[in-house]
This record gives sequence, C-alpha cells and structure tokens, in this order.
Amino acid sequence: MKLFDVYSLYDVTPVRGERCTIWDDKGTEYLDLYGGHAVISVGHSHPKYVEALKSQLDKIGFYSNSVKNPLQEELATKLGKVSGYEDYRLFLDNSGAESNENALKLASFHTGKDRIVAFRKSFHGRTSGAVAVTDNPKIVSPFNANHKVTFCELNDAESVEKELKKGDVAGVIVEGIQGCGGINLPSDEFMQQLRLLTKKYGALLLLDEVQSGYGRTGKFFAHQWAGIEPDVISMGKGIANGFPCGGVLISPGIQAVKGMLGTTFGGNYLAMAAACAVLDIIEEEKLVDNALEVGTFLKDNIPSSPKIKEVRGRGLMLGIEFNEPIAEIRRQLLFDKHIFTGVAGSDMIRLLAPLCLQKSQAEQFINSFKDLL
Ligand SMILES: Cc1ncc(COP(=O)(O)O)c(C=O)c1O
Repeated sequence: MKLFDVYSLYDVTPVRGERCTIWDDKGTEYLDLYGGHAVISVGHSHPKYVEALKSQLDKIGFYSNSVKNPLQEELATKLGKVSGYEDYRLFLDNSGAESNENALKLASFHTGKDRIVAFRKSFHGRTSGAVAVTDNPKIVSPFNANHKVTFCELNDAESVEKELKKGDVAGVIVEGIQGCGGINLPSDEFMQQLRLLTKKYGALLLLDEVQSGYGRTGKFFAHQWAGIEPDVISMGKGIANGFPCGGVLISPGIQAVKGMLGTTFGGNYLAMAAACAVLDIIEEEKLVDNALEVGTFLKDNIPSSPKIKEVRGRGLMLGIEFNEPIAEIRRQLLFDKHIFTGVAGSDMIRLLAPLCLQKSQAEQFINSFKDLL
C-alpha cells in the first residue's frame, strides 16, 4: 500500500531531537526554527517530558471518559493558574481543528444561532466547521461550503458590526495572530472592539490560539496583549509538545449540558501526562519570558535587504515577508545551512521555534540568513 499523497516532502528523515536541535538518519545536525509547525513548545525530547510519558505508560495507557481521571483535573488546575483563566472550564480533545469545531458548536448551542463571522486570510483547520471558517477555497470541499459563514477583513470592526446587527450571528472566530495566512496581527483596539461588539449583539467571541497560544508570543495567549477575555479559547499544537492533544477553555457564562460535547481519546492519560509536564517545564524554565526575549532579539536582528518587504510577529511567532518567492532561500537554509524554517504562502518564511530557543541559536540563524540574502 502507498501513502495518500497530500504533502510536499523535503528529502530529510529526522530520527532524533534534543531541545532545538534535530539529527537526521545520516547524522546531520539541524537547528529547528519550525518546531514541527509550532508544535514543539518545550523542546524535542525534554527529559522531564520523556519521563512523564514513559512512567505513565508503565501505569495505565488508556481508559475512556466514563471514569474519573485525576490527571485531567491536575491539568485544568495548572492551566488555570498559568493562563490566568482559573474561573473558566476546560474541555479536552485531540487537535486544533477539533478544538475549533467544539468552539463553533458551543457558540451555536449557547446562542441558538447558526451563522459565524470569520476573517480573510484565516486558517482554523480541516474538519467540517473549522475548514468552513477558513479563508482558503482550495481546501474547502463543496460539502464543507454549505455552512453559514461570512468573512470580514481583519481589523475592520465596522464590517463585523454590520454583520452582527443582522441578529443571526452565533460567534466571531479570530486567531490570536493569523499564522498560515501570513503572520497578520489583529490590533489591540480591534480585539477590544470585537469583545464589546460580540457582547452587545449576543454573539460569542471565539479565540483560536492553536498556533499563537501556549506562550509563543510572550504572553500565555496572544489575545492577552489586548487585555480582553474571550468566551471560548481553542488550543492545540504546543499543549503536549507533539503528543496529539487539544482543548477549549470555556467562560463561566456558558452552561455545560451532558452530551453536548464528547470524544473518545480527548483527555487520555498519556496526553494528560505530556500536557502536565509541558506546563511544569514552561513554568520552571520561564519559557514564556524566553519566547518574548529571544523572539524580540531575533526580530530586531533580521538583516534588512531590498529583498525583504517586512518582518512581522511577536515573540517566537515571526514572519519574514519577501518581495519575491522564498522557495529557494528556504531550501538553501535547510540543505546548506541545516536550519528548518516554515512558510506562509509563497513569499514568507515563518519562524515558529521551540519556546526554549537560545540567543546563540537565534544568532546562528541571523548569520546564516545574512549569507543567503
Ligand atoms: C490557527 C490554527 N488553528 C487550527 C489549526 C488546526 O490544527 P490541527 O492541524 O491540529 O487540526 C491550525 C494548524 O495549523 C492553526 O494554525
């Protein structure tokens, strides 16, 4: 049997990792500024993380959500403290798309309405509702296209209000910082307006922090820069450092009803052991502060060049937008300089390093990048 051919692959086979370093099957060492698409938060194979998973597996690997699982409570308590959302409730699932799917359902259940406002250049995942609120017609099948969704421009509060006034909007979904759409930042003022407007017109504010959350931007969630509190916050990626896990934080005003949400694997023992270890490491190693410090250093030291249009982002969620396609320079970074980077569209290099990136590693990238410009 062959694999279903949906990904473009680089000819590299990673076999080992340690913090921000990866080795391939030929022993070549790479600097990882991509974090497996913003997933590696505390670094590859952190000893504390590895030990947490191994020792959990020795005890019990899985049972269903029909019995008590104290690890879920432990994660909820830790997460409440670290994020500042102690009065919210946590629903656990398995991925970013599933978290958004649950967020959208919650908005519709809670308000009884069925239309969603989303934004141009958004990406929320590939499942039914999540892909319907994603602004990329290429990945939306005719089946997904029948949801009631209206796209507004990011940072245009007036157009959002126009839609909300119609009275049928269940929720407004927005990324803390748009990732796949090209590191586009909603302004603090826009986020504050979204908060006021959704309250005024009886819709929920849904914050997709799948990529921008978990400390990446120098606050636990990117929307916290704007000083707002959304109704629902979606999480994924860095939550368990590569073990599949997602979750939604749900504000106290939203009533839980038995059966409204559910999942087989969400909140399982191994994911919980991994996620608890991740939060412990984030706290012990002050990785949120590190993301801001090293990310700011990196951003401030990206060399200027006529080839570069703009450098955008916060903390360790950075985009280097070029005036030309970046495929070749990205290939050279990987094969000549041995540095993994990400991409957004055809003209942007996206940097999503593990939160434990060291300043010396940021310098290594800056020097290598200079050579290639
Ligand atoms: C902002 C955002 N939301 C949702 C998703 C989907 O997450 P997953 O691939 O875990 O379903 C992604 C993935 O890149 C994302 O960047």
